[in-house]
Amino acid sequence: KILVLDFGGQYNQLIARRVRECGVYSEVKPYTTPLSDIQSEGYRGVIFTGGPSSVFDEGAPTCEKEMFSLGVPVLGICYGAQLMCQMFGGEVSRADTREYGLTELCVDNASPLFSDVTKDTTCWMSHTNYIKTPPSGFAVTATTKNCPVAAMESKEQGLYAVQFHPEVMHTPEGQKMLRHFLFEVCRCSGDWQMSSFTARAIAEIREKVGDKRVLCALSGGVDSSVAAVMVHKAVGKQLTCIFVDHGLLRKNEGDEVEQVFREQFDINLIRVDAKDRFLNKLKGVSDPERKRKIIGEEFIRVFEEEAKKVGQVEYLVQGTIYPDVIESGAGSAANIKSHHNVGGLPKDIGFKGLIEPLRDLFKDEVRRAGIELGIPEFLVWRQPFPGPGLAIRIIGDITEDKLAILKDADAIFRQEVADAGLDRSINQYFAVLTNMRSVGVMGDERTYDYTVALRGVTTTDFMTADWAKIPYEVLGKISSRIINEVPHVNRIVYDITSKPPATIEWE
Ligand code: XMP
Repeated sequence: KILVLDFGGQYNQLIARRVRECGVYSEVKPYTTPLSDIQSEGYRGVIFTGGPSSVFDEGAPTCEKEMFSLGVPVLGICYGAQLMCQMFGGEVSRADTREYGLTELCVDNASPLFSDVTKDTTCWMSHTNYIKTPPSGFAVTATTKNCPVAAMESKEQGLYAVQFHPEVMHTPEGQKMLRHFLFEVCRCSGDWQMSSFTARAIAEIREKVGDKRVLCALSGGVDSSVAAVMVHKAVGKQLTCIFVDHGLLRKNEGDEVEQVFREQFDINLIRVDAKDRFLNKLKGVSDPERKRKIIGEEFIRVFEEEAKKVGQVEYLVQGTIYPDVIESGAGSAANIKSHHNVGGLPKDIGFKGLIEPLRDLFKDEVRRAGIELGIPEFLVWRQPFPGPGLAIRIIGDITEDKLAILKDADAIFRQEVADAGLDRSINQYFAVLTNMRSVGVMGDERTYDYTVALRGVTTTDFMTADWAKIPYEVLGKISSRIINEVPHVNRIVYDITSKPPATIEWE
């Protein structure tokens, strides 16, 4: 396995992920990790990440020199490269301007990192300081217009450094370079698979929990489901899952979740039917942010009441995944919507510790882990569903009648999208019950009924999105089915706005 030593850069987990993609296990640890801990882990190689600091800063992050004599190769990236340079007596210099973005790179094919890389390739740069003179014993292996030393190495010492970022997509041959580091330099075997990750995570959970008890707020979403199954595999009946059914889930969803967890996995599951409580609190409320707040608070209240009944519990499982970790760290972005996430519980509700087995994984890795654990595909490939559920898909106030209309319309939409084979290519799709009614004609009768809006988007990060180009025939079929099968709907519209300016949800 490979250690990614974290110096605070924004791509640290991405580096670890790229390494895993090559079939080599990797984990990220802070640069302050004691050398003895690193030694005992038996890493095949270490990658120093980039970071926001400058080696000239007072108190700039550094490491012990012995780090380089562990007998395993080290690859320094960006800040990591400059640190290596400075520690070995080379010269780092401050540039007047920052070099940022796609940059032409000229590599030396004699370097094991670049053996079959195009001689004139491109890379992604983001730095101000640069390596002016490499330490003695180091050869320069790549240059750019502004960087006399875009890469350097000392093969004898097993030390490699690149100023650019091989881990990002914008360095087209970056993955090749990482592969060379892993296989040619570190001699990794490349036989790691997701199953090794789950096996190891399960063993770690077992050790941490001992004979204590664990609680999980299960939402039925991919992340909390995978986390719950992992913990269940580790500690069996010491885990209790509380599934708060707020009545705002999609059609049949509550039963499906219950079936999988209770019957397939035989997990201790408490399903709380709290629909009336939630609907009561939401009565007459039409402001989206108030809906979110009410649901978030009520969720915590219900969860706490149920948790009390369970008795003494030491640990809480959370399905936090890596993008959540970044998002909650980012902080300063304008608050467009307060994304209450069911399952997101305050940290201070009296547990000894948190168990977050997915903290290092990206969404697609979580899905792979889910499949590995035997979770059914329909759960693993579930599209994202907001914590407040259908409450924010019913514009205006929420009533039982409106909920019933929306559930039926949405179920037809989802079924038809799946039947057309589009369910994995459209990243999120759902029906919205607009608060608008309009005149229609059904048979010989005038109707005055609701308009249902259909929304489908393609996106990779849900920060920006395009509307999905669902074929007209499919849309036509969905429209006529909803009109025919769902009472009180007489008009269907398809939302053709991207995000921005619209958001994905309507509220
Ligand atoms: P928007 O509507 O902001 O949605 O473009 C981006 C993604 O976030 C989901 N979303 C939420 N998820 N609680 C959640 O857990 C919320 O309150 C919430 N609001 C939006 C939305 O479904 C989409 O995937």
